[in-house]
Amino acid sequence: MCGIVGYVGTNPVLDILLDGLEQLEYRGYDSSGIAVKCDEEIKVYKAVGKLKNLRDELSSHAYEISKSTMGIGHIRWATHGAPTTVNAHPHTCNCGSLVVVHNGIIENYKELKAKLEKDGCIFRSQTDTETVAHLVAQKYAQTKDLTKAVELATKEIEGAYALEIMHNDEPEKLVITKRNAPLIIGIGHDGYYAASDIPAFIKHTNKAIYLSDNQIATLTKDSVKIQDVDGNEVKPKIEQLPWEPVALSKMGYKHYMLKEIHEQPDVIRNILVGKLHTSDSPVELNEVKLTKETLKTLNRIQVIACGTSLHAAMIGKYLIEDLCGIPVDVEASSEYIYRKTVTNAHTLVIGVSQSGETADTLTAIKQSKAKGSHILIITNRPDSAMAREADSLLSVNAGIEVSVAATKSYIAQLTSFYLLALYMAEIKGSASDETIKNLKSEMLLLPQKIEQILANKDYIQTCARKYSGTRDFIYIARGVNYPTALEGALKLKEISYINATGYPAGELKHGPIAMLDETMPVLSVLMKGSVYEKLLSNSEEAKARNARMIALTNSTDKKLDDLFDYIIRVPEVDEMLSPIIAIVPLQLIAYYIAEFLGKDVDQPRNLAKSVTVE
Ligand code: F6R
Repeated sequence: MCGIVGYVGTNPVLDILLDGLEQLEYRGYDSSGIAVKCDEEIKVYKAVGKLKNLRDELSSHAYEISKSTMGIGHIRWATHGAPTTVNAHPHTCNCGSLVVVHNGIIENYKELKAKLEKDGCIFRSQTDTETVAHLVAQKYAQTKDLTKAVELATKEIEGAYALEIMHNDEPEKLVITKRNAPLIIGIGHDGYYAASDIPAFIKHTNKAIYLSDNQIATLTKDSVKIQDVDGNEVKPKIEQLPWEPVALSKMGYKHYMLKEIHEQPDVIRNILVGKLHTSDSPVELNEVKLTKETLKTLNRIQVIACGTSLHAAMIGKYLIEDLCGIPVDVEASSEYIYRKTVTNAHTLVIGVSQSGETADTLTAIKQSKAKGSHILIITNRPDSAMAREADSLLSVNAGIEVSVAATKSYIAQLTSFYLLALYMAEIKGSASDETIKNLKSEMLLLPQKIEQILANKDYIQTCARKYSGTRDFIYIARGVNYPTALEGALKLKEISYINATGYPAGELKHGPIAMLDETMPVLSVLMKGSVYEKLLSNSEEAKARNARMIALTNSTDKKLDDLFDYIIRVPEVDEMLSPIIAIVPLQLIAYYIAEFLGKDVDQPRNLAKSVTVE
């Protein structure tokens, strides 16, 4: 989704802004722009499409900007108004003295706009953001103090925002503020950075201040002052960031997605370190702050998430119900927040989010927290807004995920769910010692098994290419792998734009079977275990309708040879752990099809890495 970056210091700002925006590109966007303070005036440059277009636009102005040492930049993912140059940020007030970039949504912008128009403001764009430019400028006319103007304006603004604002009459001040959207200050030797995400400035500094909601920071080249919304000074807490600049390299892979798929064995290893030593030692999850007594008597869990994280949550339900005997409801956050949910102090609420910033999940979490539930967050971003709401925080430590399509963060979420389910089962005594021991010893072997799959990727690539001309794709599975089918289909849909759908295989005959003919590929996630034979029968039903059959299986059963046109074999694994193994070839199939079709794999159209609007 949108990304913002700002800088005030002693170094030329242009490269800092453009490099910073480039590091945020992975979030997904459709236009970009910057504003820089040049001698007597603030200059604004914008372009539609990729950052390259902005760079081209700037090439003829490079000289006049080259000395500037203060500016703000933005990449926009259109919400209000089409992706046009006029709607791109920064936005300005009537006279162009004040510029603003914004992430989030100003919910009362229509009311504000009507009032501002009455006062003579002329709106040029269709964006909600432009109201902020006019409103702050109006307050500035009254106060002649940019920080005060922002303070007064934010009292009238409703919604979510991270804002960076400059005014021509305050040539050395960058004022920033946030509510329900991330904004971080980077403290450099040469000045201050402000961005919606760490990669935008990590190359320059790893010292940072996380701004809290409703705080306003005033940055100059050699100072940072933070205040609350009533003007009271707040002492900043400086933190050391865990990120390394090298994390944002493709390391020789053609796309980040392929690199991140290959990182998965190490992601699992990293999570297991310190938590699962051997199959004989208990799972250690000190992060879970619920007492053992509470865990023993817990009688309800709700899991809320979106997209890929929702699929991890669905598998989590299966694990927790099976191993712990606790009923688990899983719900899309966007549904959860708009109904009367039965949540209370006796419910454990688990929020799952790679980014930790997804607006729907964040709102759902806040709602359940207000009802007194214990909040456990599973996220890849311990520095995120959701992490800050957590009573218990399971940080999955997958390292930054650049590809918009989630892969390694999904595997990391799954691994965390396995640990959580085993941990609770051990405390409750709800599964046999033998079951727990077997699962633990198999978990320790998962990284090697995934490495075996990755070693076989050429075969998967050949298979993928065979199906790259299809317009539709069906994935079927049963039991614990039903969410795997959903996730495989989602991956393919996201990056290749092929209409892929996942079904519980038993449902095929209740409708979807009507779609089958000799043009339709059907991929069956056929893992050995309780539903193997059932799924085999469902695959026979599809074959009988002439579908093009593919099996993803850990079975060596000879009868599969007649049934399937392609068989992708994966290593043997316990049925309960099979989703971790089965997803890897499905990620590769999606990747290779999209790559073969020449799609923008890492930044698929219309998608954003972090969905910060509801
Ligand atoms: C799919 C994908 C999205 C996200 C969803 C939730 O590849 O990445 O479906 O899973 O937008 O995002 P998080 O996990 O950040 O809450």
